[in-house]
Amino acid sequence: AINLKGRSFLTLEDFTPAEIRYLLDLGHDLKAKRRAGICDPTLQGKHIVLLFEKTSTRTRCSFEVAATQEGGHVTYLDAGSSQMGKKESLEDTAKVLGRFFDGIEYRGYDQKVVEDLAKYAGVPVWNGLTDADHPTQILADMMTIEEHCHKPLNQVKVVFPGDVRNNMCYAWMIGAAKMGMHFVGLGPQELAKEMDGTLVKRVFATARENGGLIEITDNMNSLKDADVIYGDIWASMGEEDLIPERAKLLTPYRVTEETLKATGNSNVLYLHCLPSFHDFETKLAKEWQDKGVDIREVTDEVFRSRHSVVFDEAENRMHSIKAVLVATIGR
Ligand code: CP
Ligand code: NVA
Repeated sequence: AINLKGRSFLTLEDFTPAEIRYLLDLGHDLKAKRRAGICDPTLQGKHIVLLFEKTSTRTRCSFEVAATQEGGHVTYLDAGSSQMGKKESLEDTAKVLGRFFDGIEYRGYDQKVVEDLAKYAGVPVWNGLTDADHPTQILADMMTIEEHCHKPLNQVKVVFPGDVRNNMCYAWMIGAAKMGMHFVGLGPQELAKEMDGTLVKRVFATARENGGLIEITDNMNSLKDADVIYGDIWASMGEEDLIPERAKLLTPYRVTEETLKATGNSNVLYLHCLPSFHDFETKLAKEWQDKGVDIREVTDEVFRSRHSVVFDEAENRMHSIKAVLVATIGR
């Protein structure tokens, strides 16, 4: 039987396919229970802390709502309001928080920070996004695919057009390799050559072990037979100054009706981790539009089309994060 009690959740690389399957099943189960109004508060008396060095809507709210629904209590600390990193070392911070809390969520830049928190805290640490990975997002994505694409994950092909060296592409490569899926990072060579070569090698080997296939390519023919087109913004949090350069490189990879057609799959799904620049409604997209730069990674038409399941996916962040909490610190 699978038991994840006391485990940290830093990357899906640390989990076996069976353990990932267990978390997905638990997520589906907790979602069904929530729908049915069944509540068995497995986090009663548990306290968790959320550390955010970058902004968040979905991840923060998912942890807060998930923990609270399960009877737990949440403390939120942002970059400006704790001593961490400025007046107190990461090691000391981790040791202190480990005495107060049953688990620690961290969102920030360097993957090494979540690793060090886990090393020193003595309680489970959950990765809420780093520059290198976003593992809780992958659980929500896989749940969403299972809900809408009625076949096993190991028969599903996901194509990710965009910045192949970003956290979402890495997270997907790792997750797809574990679950024996076919994943294509579709982007320009200029960005592909900046990828973490050791990780790419490891992931290729993992995919082979699990009967999956991971490809990194700039060949648009790879859209053919995709079950899922996956979207992310072109410049991640903290990289905003790279926007003009990225827009130049990635405009050919913007997801349009043509992209969907190129899959040859009339039921292709569109997923996106969100937030998205699918129109010019946000301040950032508008500012760049005024400077003549179109930063839309997807058209509004596709984003709002029948193919798009992005809000089901966003909801699943909560159910899948609840699964991680219940599995690692629940009664
Ligand atoms: N997808 C995601 O992580 O969203 P937030 O940045 O709003 O948490
Ligand atoms: N690549 C994006 C993902 C946001 C959920 C970022 O890091 O900003």
